[in-house]
Amino acid sequence: MARPTLLVFAGSTRRDSLNKKLALVAADAARAAGAEVTYLDLRELPMPLYDGDLEAAEGIPPNAKRFKELMLAHRGLLIASPEYNSSISGVLKNAIDWASRAEPGERPLACFQDKVCGLLSASPGALGGLRGLVTLRSILGNLQVLVVPEQLAVGKAHEAFTAEGALVDAKQQATVERIARRVADLVARLAPAT
Ligand SMILES: Cc1cc2nc3c(=O)[nH]c(=O)nc-3n(C[C@H](O)[C@H](O)[C@H](O)COP(=O)(O)O)c2cc1C
Repeated sequence: MARPTLLVFAGSTRRDSLNKKLALVAADAARAAGAEVTYLDLRELPMPLYDGDLEAAEGIPPNAKRFKELMLAHRGLLIASPEYNSSISGVLKNAIDWASRAEPGERPLACFQDKVCGLLSASPGALGGLRGLVTLRSILGNLQVLVVPEQLAVGKAHEAFTAEGALVDAKQQATVERIARRVADLVARLAPAT
């Protein structure tokens, strides 16, 4: 069986992002589960805000194309999503919006269809960004992504990581590992999209 390929990223560009820390923990867990993992820092792919006039004049911007290519090259996703005002960050929504735009001749939603995705979030607040995950699950489901039922919202996340970036709580670590394993296993079992 081919090794599952997973793209892992956070919906935050912030240097000290708690969600980037969580995404890195998830990336390690996915590697331990046997997946071939690419960790992406969205700060490296700055994209303009989606604008239909810009798209009509210049097409999909280069970094949005690169993001789409990365999505297409992987069969599974692990996303650590900050919660902004009970929803997802503008950075993440904007990346999803650009990625949902088809190039001429491209199958609609090509980089979402038949993907398997695990969701995580981290917030200094008590709920850990849980409400944002409700929105993200809905968006991705509508884009034909298979989102696994398990998820993890890390509350009080400013206290949740060691200086080395490991999760302090063994139960949270076990949940990240379970989510990563579930996504990797499902990707390995599902036939590639046609
Ligand atoms: C505009 C804005 C809105 C926010 N809204 C929420 C919220 O609704 N719920 C929450 O738990 N935290 C909220 N926060 C706090 C974020 O969870 C916190 O800044 C977190 O560290 C962001 O993720 P990051 O560390 O990965 O960048 C908000 C922060 C910003 C900047």
